[in-house]
Amino acid sequence: MGRRSWCLLLLGVLVAYCIYTPLPENIEEPMPINTPLKALAHLATFLVEFLGFDFFKPMMIFLEVPPTSHKNVIVTDTKFNNTPVRVYVPRRKSDTLRRSVFYIHGGGWVLGSAAFISYDLLSERTADRLNAVVVSTNYRLAPKYHFPVQFEDVYDALKWFLRKNILEEYGVDPGRIAVSGDSAGGNLAAAVAQQLLDDPDVKIRLKIQSLIYPALQTLDVETPSYQDNAHMPVLPKSLAIRFYSNYITSDSALRKAMMSNQHVPVEAAPLFKLVNWSSLLPERFLKGHVYKAPTFGSSELARKHPGFLDVRVAPLLAADSKLRDLPLTYLVTCQYDVVRDDGLMYVRRLRDAGVPVTHNHLEDGFHGILSFPVLSFKIYYRLVDEYIGWLDENL
Ligand SMILES: *[C@@H]1O[C@H](CO)[C@@H](O)[C@H](O)[C@H]1NC(C)=O
Repeated sequence: MGRRSWCLLLLGVLVAYCIYTPLPENIEEPMPINTPLKALAHLATFLVEFLGFDFFKPMMIFLEVPPTSHKNVIVTDTKFNNTPVRVYVPRRKSDTLRRSVFYIHGGGWVLGSAAFISYDLLSERTADRLNAVVVSTNYRLAPKYHFPVQFEDVYDALKWFLRKNILEEYGVDPGRIAVSGDSAGGNLAAAVAQQLLDDPDVKIRLKIQSLIYPALQTLDVETPSYQDNAHMPVLPKSLAIRFYSNYITSDSALRKAMMSNQHVPVEAAPLFKLVNWSSLLPERFLKGHVYKAPTFGSSELARKHPGFLDVRVAPLLAADSKLRDLPLTYLVTCQYDVVRDDGLMYVRRLRDAGVPVTHNHLEDGFHGILSFPVLSFKIYYRLVDEYIGWLDENL
């Protein structure tokens, strides 16, 4: 039995264990796979809250697979400018240059890797179906490393890849490159796509940015989706805030201030219009929610940890004049997801700025679909199919 099968089995056992573990039930949502997911989220939150990320991390290694070439795709681990990456090159002969996807994994800037079984599967499938070169990047993780390390690792690796000689080496068409990522990886994908626009060293333009349930802002963690999905698997609000604050700092003062949504100093008040869900969300997502003016927090906190107001952490804080130049965008949002409204607001702001956007809203979707294929075969396959199908038509 191969490593991959063992990993899938382990994930399956974990889920089975969760299903049969009785846990407090205090929320009722019309979700297709409610119980196991809810249980898993409770378990994960419990482990993280009481034992810390450091306890959790060693277990993730059991869900990683070594680079293993397959029938159609050659898989290798290498380094792009000191950042470890996993590269997937199709075996099929190609008369023309290939398309390419630069993929950034999720995991709250704290967990995950290109070797994680689910990401390895996705990258191989993408390379095979698109006959494309897929680069799946790693980056150093929190809480050992904080912003901007994660961002810079990814950005450096991408810049290394976008050089003429490297693209030639991999037989990649410089006009057909996408950056893509999910969750925290979607956040990093949006951030690096913006950063490239101002970089005089990079001549090559991305053709596409693909953002799968991305987290895009830190200013307001009481959007309707944060309120409605506060206890939703796989990413309850407390965990989302733990991830975000850990990305910036290990100082728990930021997390506590974020939990009460009072972390933004009054000097940053003008930024709120960029994430004003009252004016940016479609009507149907506003139902039952009343917009309250922001409550401001300590200026001291923002002076100590300016990262949470940085556009590289919160791509929604970019000005319209910057958004205008972004490439064709594919953006996935899930109904049952705290960061749903981040995505919805970005769709609106990108479209207002004139960027063509394909928005795929999954009515029965939840955060983390791509990481948990064994929990939700149906939604998983639908999302992967739609995503790769869209790339095939547009890249
Ligand atoms: C948000 O938008 C609403 C209108 O939809 C407006 O009344 C409110 O002043 C705005 N708030 C901020 C902080 O921009």
